Amino acid sequence: MAYTQTQEHQQRWWVVPELAARSHAEKILVILEEMAIDRKTIDTISVTAYPWLPGALVVGVTTAYTLGKIQNKPVVEVNHIMGHVFSVLVERTLADLQCPYVCLTVSGWHNDLYLVQEKSEKILSREQQWGAKHNHLSVGQSVEVWSYTVTKLGQTIDDASGECFDKVARMLWWPYPGGRRIDEQAATCTTSSDLLLHAAKLPDQPYNFSFSGIKWQVYQHLQRWLIDLADKEQVQAVAHVFQEQVTEVLQEKLQQAVYDFAAQSIGVVWWVSANQRLREKIQLDSLLWKRGVLFPTKFVYCTDNAAMIGVVWLITYSEHTK
Ligand code: KG4
Ligand code: ZN
Repeated sequence: MAYTQTQEHQQRWWVVPELAARSHAEKILVILEEMAIDRKTIDTISVTAYPWLPGALVVGVTTAYTLGKIQNKPVVEVNHIMGHVFSVLVERTLADLQCPYVCLTVSGWHNDLYLVQEKSEKILSREQQWGAKHNHLSVGQSVEVWSYTVTKLGQTIDDASGECFDKVARMLWWPYPGGRRIDEQAATCTTSSDLLLHAAKLPDQPYNFSFSGIKWQVYQHLQRWLIDLADKEQVQAVAHVFQEQVTEVLQEKLQQAVYDFAAQSIGVVWWVSANQRLREKIQLDSLLWKRGVLFPTKFVYCTDNAAMIGVVWLITYSEHTK
């Protein structure tokens, strides 16, 4: 069961927090009703508690605790980012995730690299178990998710990759969110472009990313050469070069972490992980790494979804009852 707010945010070219919260409030009970869950089958209610837009979270958390009270079921608060990091386990088993696990989380707001290691000490306080009581981690900071220690290795120092896709799409007069459109148009591109892009490599920050320079160079190219936005082939070619550059940055930084931490499992998650070209490149790299790459098993698990929030609780629960 899914409901998307994309159209509500489209006119403003961005996610508007107040609109998101109102829409959550309007839809949450309707969706729960439509799901027609057999209440007897519920063990625990897990809910996204941190970190994100407070208004939308308050709606979810309040609903979860109210249902918990009515149904007499425990409520578990799960960290949203940890949901994405472990979203590769939806429709897979714990055995598919071998540590060290390196995970690239790419979306419209976040662009991070995480390292997941197994902990030897498994007894944690309740708050630690689901990584709930943490907002955004700083680079180098860790959070405990039951038997795992999750450390943030790096993040974007400016735009997130998805944000950059959206901004460039806007320059090309394609609607928000533009990532998918760029993905589709770049794939059908048959001409070349004079556009030359240089990404900031940040050599002294091996796991940090920078995308705003690429965006600015696309803007300058469009202005300087007065690119005709009605010329489909030229616009596709710009989209193609842009996508090649962004995916190359993601690919290189992930590669660095995979080698440095001798990753046994590699994950690429969140919405930008739906990008076909990114998948293609990383799958090629995985032949070199001799490790399979875990993408969410379905596109619907690339976006925000309840399954991954349930999975974080489930893995901790199965560890707990071993
Ligand atoms: O806004 P956001 O963080 O939403 C969720 O967490 O649900 O992530 C959506 C972002 C947008 O920036 C969108 O342009 C991008 O993901 N995106 C893509 C693709 N599909 C969605 N970027 C590149 N290629 C795609 N196929
Ligand atoms: Zn999310």
